[in-house]
This record gives sequence, C-alpha cells and structure tokens, in this order.
Amino acid sequence: MKPANLTFEEAAAIPLVGLTSYQALHDILQIKAGEKVLIHAGSGGVGTFAIQLAKSMGATVATTASDGSLLVKTLGADRVINYKEEKFEDVLHEYDAVLDTIGGASLEKSFAILKEEGRLVSVSGTPTGRFAEENGLGIVKKILFSLASAKLMKLARKNNVQYTFLFMKPSGEQLQVLTKLLEAEKIKPVIDTVFSFEDAQKALAYLEKGKAKGKIIIKMK
Ligand SMILES: NC(=O)c1ccc[n+]([C@@H]2O[C@H](COP(=O)([O-])OP(=O)(O)OC[C@H]3O[C@@H](n4cnc5c(N)ncnc54)[C@H](OP(=O)(O)O)[C@@H]3O)[C@@H](O)[C@H]2O)c1
Repeated sequence: MKPANLTFEEAAAIPLVGLTSYQALHDILQIKAGEKVLIHAGSGGVGTFAIQLAKSMGATVATTASDGSLLVKTLGADRVINYKEEKFEDVLHEYDAVLDTIGGASLEKSFAILKEEGRLVSVSGTPTGRFAEENGLGIVKKILFSLASAKLMKLARKNNVQYTFLFMKPSGEQLQVLTKLLEAEKIKPVIDTVFSFEDAQKALAYLEKGKAKGKIIIKMK
C-alpha cells in the first residue's frame, strides 16, 4: 500500500532511497538522538531522504552540497558545507557517524572527521570481506573484496572507527515504518523531474550528469 497522502509519482520516489537511508542510519549507524552525522551529497536522491530521516531520529545533521545548498537547508540540515568553497574535512570534527554516497576521495577523507569508535557507512565505496561473508558470496569474492577494501580498512583501524559497506535489501516491514513517517509528514519526497516513458533516455542522460535534486521519475502512462 502506498502512503495515503502521496501521489503515485511521489510514492515511486521512496523505496530505493528510503530503504537505503533506513538501513544506513537505523540498522548500521544506529543513530541516537543528539548524535552528529555527516550525510554526503545531501541534495541527491539518497541525501534528501537521509537528511529528513536523520532529523526525525533526533540527530544533528551536516551535509555537503553546492547548487542544492538551499534545498538541504529546507530539509532540516543544521550545517551545510558547499564543497566547491570549503573542505568538509577542515571544518567538521568529532562526528559520531558518516553516511557516504560518493565514494573515492570523499569517502577516504571522511574517516578523519569521526570521533574514536565512530561509524561510517558507504553505499558507493568498496565492499569488504565481511560484506561478502555476511551475504554468502563465497570465499573468492571474500578474498577479492578484502584486497579491494584494504586501504579503507587500514583507514578505519588508524582512526579507530567502524567501516561498513551497504547494499540495500528489499524489506516490506521497513517500508511500513517509512510509510508512517511519510503519512505523518516527518519526511517528504523530493522529486527533481517527472519524465514521460518516451523520454526515458533523456531521464537517464540527466541522471548521469549527477546534478539531480532528489529523485527523477519516469511515468509509464
Ligand atoms: N549500495 C546501495 O544499496 C545504493 C543504494 C542507492 C544508491 N546507491 C548509490 O549512491 C550514489 C548516490 O545516489 P543518489 O541517487 O543519491 O545520487 P544522485 O541523486 O545522482 O546525486 C546527485 C547529487 O550529488 C551531489 N554531488 C555531486 N558531487 C558531489 C560532491 N563531490 N560532494 C557532495 N555532493 C555532490 C549533487 O549536489 P549539488 O548539485 O548540490 O552539488 C547532486 O545533487 C550512487 O552512486 C548510487 O548508485 C547505492
């Protein structure tokens, strides 16, 4: 059942980013009220949902954005770092948790802003050996992922923090939890553009530019 107060387009914007945000912030980071969390790319699909979810959990939220700086403020972000003007790693310190959606250098620099025993989850970084083991991917993938994530695991050890790679899993139960938050208007879907099915190629090209604010929807009829 879709949330009663949402259109079908709005409801279509929820499952991927909603479940990803919930599994990152609730299941893995286990955010508690009063904790400080950095959410990268706050104006993107995952970011726009994750900021609102983290606020509903009582967290203080910092986020990185450029053109989307105003949008992320309206979603409740407490601290906005325009990544074109300042470096988040220079201005954020002693954070409890980070949700990374970018990977690469942003992910690597995020370890240093965490306090001792802080937590970092990435949906765009490198999967770990533990990820392969927990998902029953077999010994070969476990070895390959362990080798590929060695640099990140070294950073985690050096900073005494926990690094987890997340690949979202479908969950009807968790969608029910999110439905309650959406119906209570604690979280609102953020949609950049609704494309017609005929314009699906245009939608994908726009998505590839990496500048979407919230979600892009393709309408079937
Ligand atoms: N593992 C999983 O289960 C899972 C699930 C969902 C998504 N993902 C992955 O997560 C990633 C993010 O997905 P998404 O849909 O949220 O992305 P998206 O909507 O395409 O993100 C676009 C936004 O990224 C921002 N951005 C670009 N470069 C940035 C930078 N260097 N620092 C901060 N913000 C930056 C832009 O903000 P400004 O215009 O404001 O600069 C733009 O609004 C994708 O790689 C996707 O494949 C993985």
